Amino acid sequence: MPLLEHSERMLDGPPLDGRSERLDAHLARLGALPRGADNRDLIPSLESSGLLGRGGAGFPVGRKWRALAERNASRAVVVANGAEGEQASFKDRVLMAGRPHLVVDGAILAADAIGADEIVFYVGSEHDAAVLAMSRAIEERRAEIGRPVSVVTAPVSYVAGEATAAVHYINGGDARPTTTPPRVSQRGVHGLPTLVQNVESLAYAALIARFGERWYRSAGRYGSKGTALISVTGAVRESGVREIELGTTVGEIAAATGASPSGVQAVVLGGYFGTWAAAGNVWGLPLDPAIMQSRELTFGCGIVGFLPTSACGVAATAEIMAFMAKESAGQCGPCVYGLRALGDATARVAGGRAGAEELGQIERWTSQVRGRGACHHPDGAAQLMTSALNVFGDEFVHHARTGRCSITSARIEAA
Ligand SMILES: Cc1cc2nc3c(=O)[nH]c(=O)nc-3n(C[C@H](O)[C@H](O)[C@H](O)COP(=O)(O)O)c2cc1C
Ligand code: SF4
Repeated sequence: MPLLEHSERMLDGPPLDGRSERLDAHLARLGALPRGADNRDLIPSLESSGLLGRGGAGFPVGRKWRALAERNASRAVVVANGAEGEQASFKDRVLMAGRPHLVVDGAILAADAIGADEIVFYVGSEHDAAVLAMSRAIEERRAEIGRPVSVVTAPVSYVAGEATAAVHYINGGDARPTTTPPRVSQRGVHGLPTLVQNVESLAYAALIARFGERWYRSAGRYGSKGTALISVTGAVRESGVREIELGTTVGEIAAATGASPSGVQAVVLGGYFGTWAAAGNVWGLPLDPAIMQSRELTFGCGIVGFLPTSACGVAATAEIMAFMAKESAGQCGPCVYGLRALGDATARVAGGRAGAEELGQIERWTSQVRGRGACHHPDGAAQLMTSALNVFGDEFVHHARTGRCSITSARIEAA
């Protein structure tokens, strides 16, 4: 079952097999990049398209461009964020490796619209094919870009993709978040107002510039408008990137990727920064940032992870919490110590080495780390943990009470 039937969407064109689409093929497929006499013309179109940022926070793209275009300072910088340090996400690296010119298009349009003097493509150093494709694409178009442009490879770290960490690293510091204010839109790269925009957001801006906001909004199911890239993982035939119409349900994605309703117990939505949900509660859920937010769920950077019925949700959460603790940038006490304590306690519960007291501590620490960091890293971890306690609450209690996992011990007894 195709998830998307509209033509001229992001992932049309040659197969995404690691080879990048070259400039001539890109132009033959999509036509020349429209660069209007008034560079700001695209902003109203982006605003009415409803396009939301795809780096995780879901901020409206047009509104962000307008704020920078209407700034007081004369100079500015665009950073195309392709760090993608989130383990369960791969849509940005696939996009950059396969369709680098669409990302370059979006960055050029953003720089034109806000009057930026420089463009930086910030790409995760571990995403080799993406680094190569972006570097090549820039070389092919250096004259057309018409301003200083570079690829900066981001260190392998989850928080390196956070906007202030990216700016700090590009400025010669380490890739750790800095305190706000000032926001990067006020003081970013070289101290100049900086637009940090996810690469998928930029690529969609390039399509909207060509085909218009009505075209973008013509896709979408059950009242939702637009399309998005998602990374699908877990109990599926094969993990991969899909382009979906917003509003496509979790069940439809499961059907298209081979995840069966009887084989899935829970779904992690939005990634490690996101939320767990019981499979039965979200099978009919439309993937749409606004609808999800209204149900206290997250679209985030578009991760849909299916947890099989044979796996332990407590153990899966312990793994994520260990990762989040390891990835703390080590500079805010509540984040460093709080996430480590949470990670250790969750691992003890998962391993049957903790009791009811530890469960109480997990709940307490979860509420204590929230909002206590220079960046939103601890907030994301706390949100994930809260959702785990809701969805796997009985299993947490079973582990704490018996020291055993009901899922794995049932498997052992059956064997
Ligand atoms: C811990 C952390 C890690 C992040 N990593 C990324 C990333 O790898 N790529 C990305 O585009 N945004 C990432 N973000 C979000 C960025 O701070 C920023 O909001 C985003 O790049 C803006 O682009 P958008 O508006 O197009 O989403 C991260 C945020 C946090 C708190
Ligand atoms: S909250 Fe955590 S990840 Fe964010 S800056 Fe502080 S220590 Fe680093």
